[in-house]
Amino acid sequence: MPATILDGQKIAAEIKAEIAEEVKALTALGIRPGLAAVLVGTDPASEVYVRSKVKACEALGIYSEKITPASNVTTEEMLELVADLNRRDNIDGILVQLPLPKHVDAKAVLLAVSPEKDVDGFHPMNVGNLSTQRPGLVPCTPLGCMEILKRSKIPIAGSNAVVIGRSDIVGKPIAMLLLNANATVTVCHSKTKDLPGVSRQADILIAAIGRAGMVTRDFVKPGAAVIDVGMNRVTDPAEFKRMFAGNAKREQDFAAKGSTLMGDVHPEVAEVAGAITPVPGGVGPLTIAMLMSNTVKAAKLRRGAGKRATTTARGE
Ligand code: GUN
Repeated sequence: MPATILDGQKIAAEIKAEIAEEVKALTALGIRPGLAAVLVGTDPASEVYVRSKVKACEALGIYSEKITPASNVTTEEMLELVADLNRRDNIDGILVQLPLPKHVDAKAVLLAVSPEKDVDGFHPMNVGNLSTQRPGLVPCTPLGCMEILKRSKIPIAGSNAVVIGRSDIVGKPIAMLLLNANATVTVCHSKTKDLPGVSRQADILIAAIGRAGMVTRDFVKPGAAVIDVGMNRVTDPAEFKRMFAGNAKREQDFAAKGSTLMGDVHPEVAEVAGAITPVPGGVGPLTIAMLMSNTVKAAKLRRGAGKRATTTARGE
C-alpha cells in the first residue's frame, strides 16, 4: 500500500486558523503581536521566504515590518539595528533571515537578538531552554515537524526516531524535541557508519541533509513515517530523470521551468513508507505557521499575558 501523504498545507491552515483567533483575542486586549523581518541583500530564495512570512502576518492580523539593509551593511550596523528592535515595544519577534553576507558576523548578530524576541529559537539561551525542558522559543521547522507528527496521530513516545542531519537549525533541535517527547533518538551525519542500516531502524525518519533524493527505499523500514525537511532545486536533466521518470506532472514542471523543487527523500520511498511528507507542501508551510505561533507566544510571554491568553488546540 502506498504511503499516506501528510498534507502540510492542510495542517498549516488549521494551525493558522487557531492563531488568527488568538490574535483577535489578544488584539481586543490591546496586545497586537508584531514581527520584524530583517532581510539583507537580494538573495532570491530569502526574498521569497521573507515575503511569505510577511504575507502570513497580514493574513493573521499580526503587525509586521520588513527591514532591508543593503548587502554592504556592517556587523556593527546590524548590531545597532537589532538593539533598536530589542527596545521597541510594538515588536515581539525579530527574525534575521539567513544566510547573511559573509562579511557580517552572523553569530554575533543572532546572539544580539533578545532571547524574549528570538522567534527563530536560535539564541543559545533558547537552545539551553529547549535542552533542559524550560519554557522558551523553539526553532520553527522542528516545531512544524512535531505538529505534523502529532496532528497525524503518529505515536512518538517509545518510538525509534532517526534524524539524518545535525544542523543547529533543524537536526539538533528536532532531535531534542523528539527526545523530550520520549522517543529513542539517533542523530546521523556524514561520518555515520551504515547510514541505510541505522535509518532502517526508524519508526520516525527525519531527513534534514540538504541533498536531493538521498534517502532511498533501502533507508526505510516498511510502514515508517518519513518527514522530509529538504528543499533542493534539481536542474540536471539526468538527475531529474533518476528521480521523476514517468511522473507527468513533474515532467511538465521541469520542462516549463528548467528545474524542480524536491526534498531529501527519493520518490520511490512512497512505496515503502507508511506516511510521508511531500515536497513542496509538507514541512515548508508548517515553518511559516510556527513562526506565526512563536510570534504570538513571544507577545504573550513578554507582555505578561501569561502563557495562554486563550485556549488553543496546540496545548501551549
Ligand atoms: N534561512 C533558512 N532557514 C531559515 C530559518 O528558519 N530562519 C531564518 N531566519 N533564516 C533561514
